[in-house]
Amino acid sequence: MATSITKAVIPAAGLGTRFLPATKAMPKEMLPVVDKPAIQYVVEEAVAAGLTDVLMITGRNKNALENHFDKVGELEDVLRKKGELEKLDKVKYSTDLADVHYVRQGDPKGLGHAVLRAKMHVGHEPFAVLLGDDIIDERDPLLTRMLEVQQQLNTTVVALLEVDPSVAHLYGIATVKATDQDDVVKITGLVEKPSPGSAPSNLAVIGRYVLRPEIFEVLERTAPGKGGEIQLTDALQSIATGPEWGGGVHGVVFRGRRYDTGDRLDYLKAIVQLASDRADLGPDFRPWLKTFAATLTNDDHEHPDAP
Ligand code: G1P
Repeated sequence: MATSITKAVIPAAGLGTRFLPATKAMPKEMLPVVDKPAIQYVVEEAVAAGLTDVLMITGRNKNALENHFDKVGELEDVLRKKGELEKLDKVKYSTDLADVHYVRQGDPKGLGHAVLRAKMHVGHEPFAVLLGDDIIDERDPLLTRMLEVQQQLNTTVVALLEVDPSVAHLYGIATVKATDQDDVVKITGLVEKPSPGSAPSNLAVIGRYVLRPEIFEVLERTAPGKGGEIQLTDALQSIATGPEWGGGVHGVVFRGRRYDTGDRLDYLKAIVQLASDRADLGPDFRPWLKTFAATLTNDDHEHPDAP
C-alpha cells in the first residue's frame, strides 16, 4: 500500500559515551557496522519505506554526519580518474540517497525533547522516527508494515519486540490487548525503563515509531520523567490512555531480524551477524568464524573480567 507519509526523523545527538574513545571526535552514528556507518543503514531503511525527506536531530560533531551525506568532489574526481567506478558508486550512493536536513537539539533533554525539535520541519503530517541504535534487516521490512498500519488505523504506531524479561528494564515496555490482525496489538499502557523485575510485560518498544503531529503538543506538556529527561514513552503513554487523543497507540509486533548497536557487546554481535550474511564477505568470514569459535574453550567464560 502506498502511503502519503514522506518524512523521517532520526535523533542523532547522543554523546555515545559507551563507545569512548572512538566517539571522542566523531558521533556514534558514524561508527562502521562492517563497512557502512550505522546511520546509513537507518537512512536506507527510511528510503526503502518511501521516506526520502530525512531530518536528523544532531548534537556536537554533526560535521561528520553532514559530510557523509554530502558530495565529496575531490574524492569523486580521484576515483573517476583512476577508473575505480565501483568505489565511486559507493561514495555517491549516500549523497543521492535522501534529502537530508539537520537541526541541532541544543540541550540534551532526552528523546522526547529531540523529537520535539522536529516540529517546524514536520508540520501537520504523520511522520516516522527511527533510532540509530537499532538496525532492522532489510529483508524484514518493519517500517513499511508500520506505515501501512498507520494509514489503515490512523493512529500512532510503535514497533514492539518480545524480549527476555532480564533486559526489560532497558526499554520502554508496553501492556497490550490483541486486535484482529495477528501482528498488531492495541497498547493499553507504556512505561519507560521499569526497574528490574517490575516490567508489566516483555513487549519492548524498539526504535521505530510512526507518529501523528499531535505528538508535539503532547511532548510540550510532558514533564521530565526517567533520568530527568523528557521521554517519548511518557508522551505515548498520554496518547494511549487519554481519550482526547483519538485512536490511541497500536504496536506492530516485530518477529524479524534486528541488530542492536547500542553498546559494545551488541555492536560486536551485530557486525559478526551482518558480515556472516554478506554475499561478498560471508563465504570467507563464516569458515574462519567457525574455526575461531572452535578454539574458544569453556574456560574463557569463567574469566569475564580478564583483560
Ligand atoms: C529509547 C527509548 C526506549 C526504547 C529504546 C529502544 O531508549 O527511550 O523507550 O525502548 O530507545 O531502543 P534508549 O535506548 O535510547 O535509552
